[in-house]
Amino acid sequence: MAQDPGDIRRPGRPAVVAHRGASADRPEHTIGAYELALAQGAEGLECDVRLTRDRRLVCIHDRTVDRTSSGTGVVSEMTLAQLQELDFGSWHPHGRPATVLTLAELITLTLDHDRPARLFIETKHPVRYGGQVEDLVLEELKRFKVASPPSVDHSRAVVISFSTVGMWRIRRQAPMLPTVLLGDAATLLRGVAATSVGATAVGPSIAMLRDRPEIATRAAMSGRATYCWTVDERTDVTHCARYGVDFVATNHPDRVLRWLESTPS
Ligand code: G3P
Ligand code: CA
Repeated sequence: MAQDPGDIRRPGRPAVVAHRGASADRPEHTIGAYELALAQGAEGLECDVRLTRDRRLVCIHDRTVDRTSSGTGVVSEMTLAQLQELDFGSWHPHGRPATVLTLAELITLTLDHDRPARLFIETKHPVRYGGQVEDLVLEELKRFKVASPPSVDHSRAVVISFSTVGMWRIRRQAPMLPTVLLGDAATLLRGVAATSVGATAVGPSIAMLRDRPEIATRAAMSGRATYCWTVDERTDVTHCARYGVDFVATNHPDRVLRWLESTPS
């Protein structure tokens, strides 16, 4: 593959996506975790998004704030102002006080970086506000002028989900935006779901790809990329590279980049 300055993919190896930021070294979904990932050389950033009671998009994985903040409660029942009163950093062994991260702040960080980086935004389902999450993600991407990229390979944003309905909502409203359909091995191997929602990539877990590496080869034959998560072990990184995986999501972008760069392609 010839190197293209606008394309985050790298010749002969998967591009490295920081899963929830450099989340082994910093508290997940904090600005510090994403700044560190970019400083370490990650080519992509992954985040989960949820809607608050006042319909603001925040980067939080769990349904509640209990595990990752100083507070308790359900994200969808809290306002952004209430979330902003909590500390999302100190729970982590390498953490310090940090505020909740909004999707807008993370898009800004991604677009302001001094080399192209791509943001993989995961919408969670089922959720209280249903399809509003995809509608508001798209609204935000339009506001930042990244909802209609010139091509899939030059997109600064990707929407990913286990929900086929969620993927279809994106495809219907933003046909140029890349999407990753996550799912079980049988679903991803058959390819029918990915085809019917127009997904540009499939997203197996590393456990699935260890057992069924043909998920990646079949996806490539169908013109789809493969995004594999969460790839933290060296043998798994080698496995992904061998089977032509395009993107690996990892909690350890620094060491995965080191391994990939020291492994002959
Ligand atoms: O990147 C996909 C992966 O993050 C899905 O699992 O639970 O970590 O969001 P989860
Ligand atoms: Ca995720």
